[in-house]
Amino acid sequence: MKIFAVLILTVTAWAQVADNANKSYKTKEGRDKIAATLDDPHRDGKQKPAELVAAMQIKPGMTVADIGTGTGYMLPFLSEAVGPSGRVFGEDIQTDFLDRAKTKHIPNVTLILGTETDPKLPQNSVDIALALDVYHHFDYPDKMLAAIRDALKPGAHLVVVDFYKSASPTPGHIRAERDEVASEIERNGFHLLSKRDHTPKSQYILTFEKTKQ
Ligand SMILES: C[S@@+](CC[C@H](N)C(=O)[O-])C[C@H]1O[C@@H](n2cnc3c(N)ncnc32)[C@H](O)[C@@H]1O
Repeated sequence: MKIFAVLILTVTAWAQVADNANKSYKTKEGRDKIAATLDDPHRDGKQKPAELVAAMQIKPGMTVADIGTGTGYMLPFLSEAVGPSGRVFGEDIQTDFLDRAKTKHIPNVTLILGTETDPKLPQNSVDIALALDVYHHFDYPDKMLAAIRDALKPGAHLVVVDFYKSASPTPGHIRAERDEVASEIERNGFHLLSKRDHTPKSQYILTFEKTKQ
Protein backbone atom coordinates (compact mmCIF):
# COMPACT_ATOMS: atom_id res chain seq x y z
CA MET A 1 0.00 0.00 0.00
CA LYS A 2 2.85 2.34 0.99
CA ILE A 3 4.72 1.58 -2.28
CA PHE A 4 1.51 2.24 -4.24
CA ALA A 5 1.09 5.65 -2.56
CA VAL A 6 4.72 6.59 -3.29
CA LEU A 7 4.24 5.53 -6.93
CA ILE A 8 1.12 7.68 -7.29
CA LEU A 9 2.91 10.67 -5.72
CA THR A 10 5.92 10.22 -8.02
CA VAL A 11 3.78 9.96 -11.15
CA THR A 12 1.81 13.04 -10.10
CA ALA A 13 5.01 14.98 -9.48
CA TRP A 14 6.23 14.15 -13.01
CA ALA A 15 2.87 14.63 -14.72
CA GLN A 16 2.75 17.09 -17.57
CA VAL A 17 -0.65 18.56 -16.92
CA ALA A 18 -1.06 20.09 -20.39
CA ASP A 19 -0.13 17.00 -22.40
CA ASN A 20 -3.45 17.04 -24.25
CA ALA A 21 -3.29 20.76 -25.14
CA ASN A 22 0.32 20.47 -26.33
CA LYS A 23 -0.06 17.45 -28.66
CA SER A 24 -0.11 19.45 -31.91
CA TYR A 25 2.91 21.52 -30.82
CA LYS A 26 5.22 18.50 -30.89
CA THR A 27 5.84 18.46 -34.67
CA LYS A 28 6.99 21.21 -37.03
CA GLU A 29 3.95 20.47 -39.24
CA GLY A 30 1.63 20.94 -36.25
CA ARG A 31 3.32 24.18 -35.25
CA ASP A 32 3.16 25.55 -38.82
CA LYS A 33 -0.63 25.03 -38.78
CA ILE A 34 -0.92 26.71 -35.37
CA ALA A 35 1.26 29.63 -36.55
CA ALA A 36 -1.16 30.23 -39.42
CA THR A 37 -4.08 30.51 -36.97
CA LEU A 38 -2.12 32.78 -34.61
CA ASP A 39 -1.28 35.10 -37.53
CA ASP A 40 -4.73 34.89 -39.15
CA PRO A 41 -5.38 38.41 -40.52
CA HIS A 42 -9.01 38.17 -39.30
CA ARG A 43 -8.01 37.26 -35.72
CA ASP A 44 -8.40 40.77 -34.25
CA GLY A 45 -12.19 40.63 -34.68
CA LYS A 46 -12.40 37.69 -32.25
CA GLN A 47 -9.35 38.28 -30.09
CA LYS A 48 -9.89 42.02 -29.45
CA PRO A 49 -6.22 42.99 -28.85
CA ALA A 50 -6.92 46.72 -28.39
CA GLU A 51 -9.50 45.95 -25.67
CA LEU A 52 -7.00 43.61 -24.01
CA VAL A 53 -4.28 46.27 -23.96
CA ALA A 54 -6.78 48.73 -22.43
CA ALA A 55 -7.74 46.17 -19.75
CA MET A 56 -4.06 45.65 -18.90
CA GLN A 57 -3.74 49.35 -17.97
CA ILE A 58 -0.31 49.65 -19.55
CA LYS A 59 1.42 53.02 -19.11
CA PRO A 60 4.14 54.51 -21.32
CA GLY A 61 7.61 53.55 -20.12
CA MET A 62 6.52 50.26 -18.54
CA THR A 63 8.20 46.89 -19.09
CA VAL A 64 5.71 44.29 -20.23
CA ALA A 65 6.29 40.56 -20.82
CA ASP A 66 4.26 38.50 -23.29
CA ILE A 67 4.72 34.99 -21.87
CA GLY A 68 4.17 32.40 -24.61
CA THR A 69 4.16 35.08 -27.30
CA GLY A 70 3.92 32.45 -30.07
CA THR A 71 4.47 34.22 -33.39
CA GLY A 72 4.27 37.58 -31.61
CA TYR A 73 0.63 38.45 -32.34
CA MET A 74 0.35 40.79 -29.33
CA LEU A 75 3.80 42.38 -29.65
CA PRO A 76 2.88 45.34 -31.93
CA PHE A 77 -0.01 46.29 -29.61
CA LEU A 78 2.14 46.00 -26.47
CA SER A 79 5.04 47.87 -28.07
CA GLU A 80 2.76 50.77 -29.03
CA ALA A 81 1.26 50.88 -25.51
CA VAL A 82 4.63 51.08 -23.68
CA GLY A 83 5.95 53.60 -26.23
CA PRO A 84 9.57 54.41 -27.11
CA SER A 85 10.63 54.65 -23.45
CA GLY A 86 9.16 51.25 -22.57
CA ARG A 87 10.20 47.68 -23.18
CA VAL A 88 8.50 44.44 -24.22
CA PHE A 89 9.80 40.91 -23.67
CA GLY A 90 8.32 38.36 -26.08
CA GLU A 91 8.98 34.92 -24.65
CA ASP A 92 8.24 31.44 -25.97
CA ILE A 93 9.58 27.89 -25.78
CA GLN A 94 9.43 27.24 -29.55
CA THR A 95 12.28 28.62 -31.66
CA ASP A 96 10.28 28.45 -34.90
CA PHE A 97 7.56 30.68 -33.40
CA LEU A 98 10.19 33.15 -32.18
CA ASP A 99 11.80 33.15 -35.66
CA ARG A 100 8.44 34.23 -37.09
CA ALA A 101 8.07 36.93 -34.42
CA LYS A 102 11.56 38.20 -35.28
CA THR A 103 10.58 38.85 -38.91
CA LYS A 104 8.01 41.40 -37.68
CA HIS A 105 10.80 43.79 -36.51
CA ILE A 106 8.73 45.42 -33.76
CA PRO A 107 10.45 48.28 -31.89
CA ASN A 108 11.44 47.90 -28.22
CA VAL A 109 10.89 44.12 -28.28
CA THR A 110 13.41 41.61 -26.93
CA LEU A 111 12.66 38.00 -27.83
CA ILE A 112 13.51 35.35 -25.26
CA LEU A 113 13.68 31.57 -25.56
CA GLY A 114 12.31 30.12 -22.32
CA THR A 115 11.81 26.56 -21.12
CA GLU A 116 8.73 24.62 -19.98
CA THR A 117 9.51 25.61 -16.39
CA ASP A 118 11.14 29.04 -16.72
CA PRO A 119 10.51 31.97 -19.08
CA LYS A 120 14.10 33.17 -18.42
CA LEU A 121 13.04 36.77 -17.89
CA PRO A 122 15.36 39.14 -16.01
CA GLN A 123 14.54 39.08 -12.30
CA ASN A 124 12.54 41.95 -10.79
CA SER A 125 12.19 43.66 -14.17
CA VAL A 126 8.56 43.38 -15.33
CA ASP A 127 5.59 45.68 -14.53
CA ILE A 128 2.91 43.57 -16.25
CA ALA A 129 3.15 39.98 -17.52
CA LEU A 130 0.55 38.72 -19.99
CA ALA A 131 -0.32 35.07 -20.68
CA LEU A 132 -2.77 35.07 -23.61
CA ASP A 133 -4.14 31.60 -24.43
CA VAL A 134 -1.06 30.18 -22.78
CA TYR A 135 -1.86 29.19 -19.18
CA HIS A 136 -3.62 26.01 -20.30
CA HIS A 137 -0.41 25.05 -22.13
CA PHE A 138 1.78 25.19 -19.02
CA ASP A 139 2.90 21.63 -18.25
CA TYR A 140 4.42 22.74 -14.95
CA PRO A 141 2.23 25.65 -13.78
CA ASP A 142 3.73 25.88 -10.27
CA LYS A 143 7.28 26.20 -11.61
CA MET A 144 6.24 28.70 -14.30
CA LEU A 145 4.37 30.81 -11.74
CA ALA A 146 7.37 30.82 -9.39
CA ALA A 147 9.64 32.00 -12.23
CA ILE A 148 7.12 34.62 -13.43
CA ARG A 149 6.84 35.84 -9.85
CA ASP A 150 10.63 36.29 -9.69
CA ALA A 151 10.54 38.33 -12.91
CA LEU A 152 7.84 40.70 -11.62
CA LYS A 153 8.66 43.86 -9.69
CA PRO A 154 7.05 44.18 -6.23
CA GLY A 155 3.30 44.69 -6.63
CA ALA A 156 3.46 44.04 -10.40
CA HIS A 157 0.58 42.38 -12.26
CA LEU A 158 0.01 39.07 -14.04
CA VAL A 159 -2.83 39.11 -16.59
CA VAL A 160 -4.15 35.70 -17.67
CA VAL A 161 -6.52 35.51 -20.64
CA ASP A 162 -7.82 32.04 -21.37
CA PHE A 163 -10.77 30.04 -22.64
CA TYR A 164 -13.68 28.91 -20.50
CA LYS A 165 -13.40 25.13 -20.24
CA SER A 166 -17.18 24.75 -20.56
CA ALA A 167 -17.15 26.65 -23.90
CA SER A 168 -14.17 24.84 -25.42
CA PRO A 169 -15.10 22.84 -28.54
CA THR A 170 -12.20 20.39 -27.96
CA PRO A 171 -12.76 18.14 -24.93
CA GLY A 172 -9.67 17.90 -22.71
CA HIS A 173 -7.84 20.81 -24.36
CA ILE A 174 -8.64 23.22 -21.51
CA ARG A 175 -7.88 21.33 -18.29
CA ALA A 176 -9.40 23.71 -15.72
CA GLU A 177 -12.31 26.13 -15.34
CA ARG A 178 -11.66 29.84 -14.67
CA ASP A 179 -12.10 29.69 -10.90
CA GLU A 180 -9.81 26.64 -10.57
CA VAL A 181 -7.17 28.53 -12.55
CA ALA A 182 -7.59 31.56 -10.27
CA SER A 183 -7.20 29.42 -7.11
CA GLU A 184 -4.15 27.64 -8.54
CA ILE A 185 -2.47 30.98 -9.30
CA GLU A 186 -3.40 32.42 -5.89
CA ARG A 187 -1.76 29.40 -4.20
CA ASN A 188 1.46 30.34 -5.99
CA GLY A 189 2.08 33.83 -4.63
CA PHE A 190 -0.53 35.99 -6.36
CA HIS A 191 -3.63 37.84 -5.22
CA LEU A 192 -6.64 38.00 -7.58
CA LEU A 193 -7.59 41.64 -8.27
CA SER A 194 -10.33 41.13 -10.86
CA LYS A 195 -12.06 38.56 -13.05
CA ARG A 196 -14.29 39.26 -16.02
CA ASP A 197 -15.21 38.23 -19.55
CA HIS A 198 -12.86 39.25 -22.31
CA THR A 199 -14.82 37.82 -25.22
CA PRO A 200 -18.26 36.83 -23.87
CA LYS A 201 -18.85 33.06 -23.44
CA SER A 202 -15.38 32.34 -24.83
CA GLN A 203 -12.48 33.98 -22.96
CA TYR A 204 -12.00 35.48 -19.50
CA ILE A 205 -9.40 37.88 -18.07
CA LEU A 206 -7.93 37.32 -14.62
CA THR A 207 -5.71 40.07 -13.19
CA PHE A 208 -3.40 39.26 -10.28
CA GLU A 209 -0.98 41.21 -8.14
CA LYS A 210 2.24 39.63 -6.95
CA THR A 211 1.90 39.19 -3.19
CA LYS A 212 4.60 40.10 -0.70
CA GLN A 213 6.41 36.94 0.52
C1 LIG B 1 -2.19 29.11 -28.29
S1 LIG B 1 -0.54 29.68 -28.39
C2 LIG B 1 -0.77 31.40 -27.97
C3 LIG B 1 0.34 32.26 -28.50
C4 LIG B 1 0.15 33.77 -28.27
N1 LIG B 1 0.04 34.11 -26.89
C5 LIG B 1 -1.05 34.27 -29.03
O1 LIG B 1 -2.13 34.46 -28.41
O2 LIG B 1 -0.94 34.46 -30.24
C6 LIG B 1 0.23 29.00 -26.94
C7 LIG B 1 1.71 29.34 -26.81
O3 LIG B 1 2.20 28.94 -25.54
C8 LIG B 1 3.52 28.49 -25.72
N2 LIG B 1 3.89 27.73 -24.52
C9 LIG B 1 3.51 26.52 -24.11
N3 LIG B 1 4.05 26.20 -22.92
C10 LIG B 1 4.79 27.25 -22.56
C11 LIG B 1 5.61 27.55 -21.43
N4 LIG B 1 5.78 26.71 -20.42
N5 LIG B 1 6.22 28.73 -21.41
C12 LIG B 1 6.05 29.61 -22.40
N6 LIG B 1 5.30 29.38 -23.50
C13 LIG B 1 4.69 28.22 -23.56
C14 LIG B 1 3.47 27.73 -27.01
O4 LIG B 1 4.75 27.51 -27.56
C15 LIG B 1 2.61 28.67 -27.84
O5 LIG B 1 3.36 29.64 -28.49
